[in-house]
Amino acid sequence: MSDGNNNIEFKFSFLGDSMVGKTTIFKKLTTGNFQSKTLSTVGVDKRTIKYENIEVNIDGRPVNKSFDISLFDTAGQEKFRAITKNYINGSDGIILIYDITRRQSFENIEMWLESITDCLEDYKNSDYLIMLLGNKLDLIKEDENRREITTEEGEKKSKDCGLYWGGECSAKDFSESDFKDLFANLVKKIYEKVGDKKEAKNIKITIIKSSNQKKEGKKKCC
Ligand code: GTP
Repeated sequence: MSDGNNNIEFKFSFLGDSMVGKTTIFKKLTTGNFQSKTLSTVGVDKRTIKYENIEVNIDGRPVNKSFDISLFDTAGQEKFRAITKNYINGSDGIILIYDITRRQSFENIEMWLESITDCLEDYKNSDYLIMLLGNKLDLIKEDENRREITTEEGEKKSKDCGLYWGGECSAKDFSESDFKDLFANLVKKIYEKVGDKKEAKNIKITIIKSSNQKKEGKKKCC
């Protein structure tokens, strides 16, 4: 069992157009509830989820690690873009969401990636992972004609843009644990990419606190 203090901390932000379902996924994941009517997010909402003993691979060896994941649900509306950008820079991972029944939300992925590159010049090579997720799969199950983006297009976009393809989901039909499993994959992937540095940073913070030295300088904001 993890004692809680040794948990590795990651920050994930939800990005994507307004109405794609960011808040609905965020709420399903953190409370298990589906809300059929939500108000547009104003600013940012934050919650934390825990993962105990996830198996990750370090140099080909399986090792169990525990994580505290802070999730930030950002606003998709244009007028909140400046606030949203502040959260991009502080995140270890981004969950970039589009609505598979609305092509415009898919076309705008490039615009979201530009916002990310405004903050992080070289996100493909940085210690950073972006997961692309197509939402509202249940609507297609009801009526296949509502689909505006094929699964293959989503996969191709991920490949072309250097993103991690999370697949298609439904905030309505997926359970809390379906989403937890989906995000666990992201946690593993990020850990396998940056885990050593992250743990070293955690240790450094502990040493600073115990020796009462100066705090680390603030992270540069975009
Ligand atoms: P902003 O806060 O404006 O950025 O929007 P958002 O991306 O957070 O969208 P939100 O979660 O508020 O969802 C918009 C609408 O889509 C709401 O009415 C949700 O109930 C609905 N919705 C979200 N996900 C799904 C889904 O998977 N299936 C269906 N059928 N409806 C969904």
